[in-house]
Amino acid sequence: MEITYYGHSCFSVKIGQKTILFDPFITYNELAKDIDVAAIQADYILISHGHQDHIADAVMLAQQNKATVVSNYEIVDWLTNQGVEKSHPMNIGGHWFFDADDNGNKFKVKCVVAVHSSVLPDGTYGGNPMGFLIESSEGNFYYAGDTALTYDMKLIGEYKSIDFAFLPIGNNFTMGIDNALIAAEFINCQKIIGMHYDTFGYIKIDTVEAAAKFQMAGNELHLFTIGETKNI
Ligand code: NI
Ligand code: MN
Repeated sequence: MEITYYGHSCFSVKIGQKTILFDPFITYNELAKDIDVAAIQADYILISHGHQDHIADAVMLAQQNKATVVSNYEIVDWLTNQGVEKSHPMNIGGHWFFDADDNGNKFKVKCVVAVHSSVLPDGTYGGNPMGFLIESSEGNFYYAGDTALTYDMKLIGEYKSIDFAFLPIGNNFTMGIDNALIAAEFINCQKIIGMHYDTFGYIKIDTVEAAAKFQMAGNELHLFTIGETKNI
């Protein structure tokens, strides 16, 4: 699948003819200042939780693309009040099939547990934080959102085969690299894409050491350059 990185925890993934964008935080991110936000395409925008560093550009990008926003009920309600027109509310444990193309091909989004917190930028209650398990004819992947290592991740690995996973590795607000290695084991996935690191002081990490630790464990840690597109 074709993956593009827009900094922090924001990625787009192409499935069929549709582009899914995760956790848009670009215009507030100094490291992403070279990204042309007006050129970002998205058919669906998935939001893991209400924190500013995951939702800052959601309204603008939803309006720009006439995209469907998918998140928990509380966040969808808040975004609707901010001017988002198309949305789909969900919550942990539920799944839904969305169109991957115009020929009836679908991809499945399942909302899974994330151990974190969630409040919206103006203080509104943001519901519970989530991760997403995406299944499609092109493969399956897990987008963890902001989370600690949790034994619930084992459920994902035991019941689904995961081709690649987006895991936070920045420590302090989420799990760090050592726990991400255990998470990779729990979900039984060797291809990990790192996120939620280096954006601000508390989450700056040694990326060389991080990559070496993954290599020693026989796993791949993919760290994208902001703006980079790769097939994984
Ligand atoms: Ni957060
Ligand atoms: Mn965050």
